[in-house]
Amino acid sequence: MKHLLTTRELDRATAVRILDVAEEMAATADREVKKLPALRGKTVVNLFFEDSTRTRLSFESAAKRLSADVITFSAKGSSVSKGESLKDTAQTLVAMGADAIVVRHPASGAAHRLAHAGWIDASIVNAGDGTHEHPTQALLDAFTLRRRIHGADARGQALDGIRVVIVGDILHSRVARSNVWLLATLGAEVHLVAPRTLQPAGIDEWPVTVHALLDDALATEPHAVMMLRIQRERMVDAYFPSEREYGRIWGLTAERFAALPADTMVMHPGPMNRGLEIASVAADSTRSTVLEQVTNGVSIRMAVLYLLVAGVEEERA
Ligand code: CP
Repeated sequence: MKHLLTTRELDRATAVRILDVAEEMAATADREVKKLPALRGKTVVNLFFEDSTRTRLSFESAAKRLSADVITFSAKGSSVSKGESLKDTAQTLVAMGADAIVVRHPASGAAHRLAHAGWIDASIVNAGDGTHEHPTQALLDAFTLRRRIHGADARGQALDGIRVVIVGDILHSRVARSNVWLLATLGAEVHLVAPRTLQPAGIDEWPVTVHALLDDALATEPHAVMMLRIQRERMVDAYFPSEREYGRIWGLTAERFAALPADTMVMHPGPMNRGLEIASVAADSTRSTVLEQVTNGVSIRMAVLYLLVAGVEEERA
C-alpha cells in the first residue's frame, strides 16, 4: 500500500491489519518512552489547505512518536495566497525531502490528484478532501468501536453484526462517506438518517438502510449512534427551517439520549455544535467516545504512516 486515499478501496484484510497495527501502536502509549524509531530519517509533511484541530495535531503527534521529522504547512500565510498551485506547492515540499504528505483540501479529489498525477513520488494520505472522504477518521472510528465492543485484545476481528446509526449532514460529510464504506467492508450494519435535503444523490445505492425519522433509526437499538456536525461553512442554501427546528427533529437531545439502550455508544468526529446536533449531556456522558476517538486517532495515524512509509521501504528491501 503506497497511499491511503479512500476507504472504498480498502479490502477487509487490509482494514483489519491497520486496526491491528494501531493496537500495537496504542500499547506503546503506556510506556515511559513513547517514541518508536520506525520512521527515523523520514520526513512527513502535513499539508493543510483547510482548518483542522484534531487531524493536524494527531498526524503531527503520530509522526513524532514514530521519530519522523515533521513539517507542518498551513495554506494560510503561505505562497498559496500568491496563486501557487497544488502541484507547485507539493513539488516544493518533496524537494525538501518529504517521504509522506498528509493533505487536507477543500476540493474533492485533491488527494487522488496528488497521488496519481505523476507530479511527486511521496506517499499521500488523505486527511479530508472536500465532501469526498476522510479515511483515517473512519479507521479511528472503527478502532474505537472494536475496542469498546471487543476490548483491546481483539486483533484479527472485524465488526460483523455491529449496528451503527449515522445521523445528520450526510450531504457534506466526508466522515459519513468513509465510514459507510469501511463499516460495510468490516461487516457492520449501517443505518443513515438525515433530512431529505441533506441526503446526497445516489444514497439509495450505498450499502446502508436509510431512515426518514431519527426515532425509527434509534429504535434499531444500535451499538453506536454517530452524530455528524452541521457543516455551515459548506452550506450555500437553506437546508432546514431553523437550527432550533433541526435540533428538535434531528438532534441527539437529552430526551433521546435518555431513551437510548444503556450500552449504546455516542460518537462524534468533532468539532461539535453543542445544543444543535448533540446535547451536552450526551457529549459529556461516559457513553460518549468523543475524546477516546481523539486518543485513538493518534494510534491509527501511527499505524497508517508506519505501513505506508516503512512498509514501502520493507517492500523495496
Ligand atoms: N474530525 C476532524 O477531522 O476534526 P478536525 O477538523 O479538527 O481535524
